[in-house]
Amino acid sequence: MSRKPLIAGNWKMHLTIAESVELARLVATASEQLDDREVMIAPAYTALDAVAKTLKESNVHVGSQNVAYETEGAFTGEISPLMLKDIGVTMPIIGHSERRQLFNESDALINKRVTAALKNDLIPVFCIGETIEEREAGNTFSVLESQLKNGLAGINKEQAAGIVIAYEPVWAIGTGKTASTEQAQETHAFIRSSLSEMFDTSAAESIRILYGGSVKPDNVDALMAQNDIDGALVGGAALKAESFGRIVNFQ
Ligand code: 13P
Repeated sequence: MSRKPLIAGNWKMHLTIAESVELARLVATASEQLDDREVMIAPAYTALDAVAKTLKESNVHVGSQNVAYETEGAFTGEISPLMLKDIGVTMPIIGHSERRQLFNESDALINKRVTAALKNDLIPVFCIGETIEEREAGNTFSVLESQLKNGLAGINKEQAAGIVIAYEPVWAIGTGKTASTEQAQETHAFIRSSLSEMFDTSAAESIRILYGGSVKPDNVDALMAQNDIDGALVGGAALKAESFGRIVNFQ
């Protein structure tokens, strides 16, 4: 089993172009010596091109926070996978809980975005996660299974092997509440076993499953020590070079 850890920063709707370029430079420096792990940052669309240029000679991947399901046409407000590739994006985040909850993105829409990303040789960072109500009702696993099945419908096992999954419990996002390492590991193991049923063991073993939700310098080491946690999708702590630099340098 050789899953290379991936630490990804989701900058959400933050930072000017100048601030983004400066932070990207610092992230590149913090990641310079790291070859046993990968680092990605996903800036806002306005800063994407400038950040991609800044990171060109670095080993940091550039992500986007979404991707259109068509390559061209009358889709006001959407950004095509070809346009993203054109500026050097390799990893679009798809199905983030903020897209699902605030913008009503459905499993079916998310599935179209994942499919288009794969078709255009982009690596989807496909997000799933339960709300606090779903967890308290004992429905965490059934919710995750349905998000996986619907979001990855029509994807074959060769394609699946190349995707990244981000498990982000909605109740842990931006709240300072992290899932305990045991809770996170248990859920990641469940996700991997579902993937194994949906595709096969070899695909499931190669898929990286990131944890997201209040990842910070003081909890990253314990999370990354878990067998089925292959990386982190970081929000708030990715906006400061000091904290993100420490997170990418997890022990
Ligand atoms: P926080 O790290 O701020 O909780 O955000 C997590 C997240 O949503 C990353 O996509």
